[in-house]
Amino acid sequence: MTGNDAAPRVVVGVDGSPSSYAALRWAIRQAQLIGGTVDAVGAWETLVAYGWSAPMIAPDLDEGVARRKFDQELGEVLGAGQPVEVQRRLVPGNPADVLIDAARGAELLVVGSRGHGTFARALLGSVSERCAMHAPCPVVIVREG
Ligand SMILES: Nc1ncnc2c1ncn2[C@@H]1O[C@H](COP(=O)(O)OP(=O)(O)OP(=O)(O)O)[C@@H](O)[C@H]1O
Ligand SMILES: [Mg+2]
Repeated sequence: MTGNDAAPRVVVGVDGSPSSYAALRWAIRQAQLIGGTVDAVGAWETLVAYGWSAPMIAPDLDEGVARRKFDQELGEVLGAGQPVEVQRRLVPGNPADVLIDAARGAELLVVGSRGHGTFARALLGSVSERCAMHAPCPVVIVREG
């Protein structure tokens, strides 16, 4: 499918969590309704742990691994065809910063209420909270299921 610069863009944050896939499905339905396209954005955090000899990058934070995982997971969720154009982008950086930046000029930013974080007592993850507070466009927060 060819790109259409005039079409409204729905940006969605995908971190591999069930909640982010619910957000992705919601974003696709919404883009279909408004005649827009979907920008599926994953932020890949480059965490460096400093040992006592040299800095070490954790294996699953390696860019190649992150890219393969992102592509494979999105492929599984998206299946063969989609009713709208879905762009996939994996961007290095802090997730909230990356999503807020990607949302510039977009119609809508969609995120899940939770991600992969372990602080289950919070109703809202820190990334969705920061997006809700600072995104330059309207934000939709999707709860899983
Ligand atoms: N690395 C990421 N790349 C893209 N989107 C992300 C990323 N991390 C989070 N998101 C988006 O934000 C939503 C909420 O995730 P968030 O990280 O805020 O929750 P959490 O992991 O449960 O909590 P926390 O990270 O604060 O411990 C996800 O469903 C996804 O839409
Ligand atoms: Mg998180």
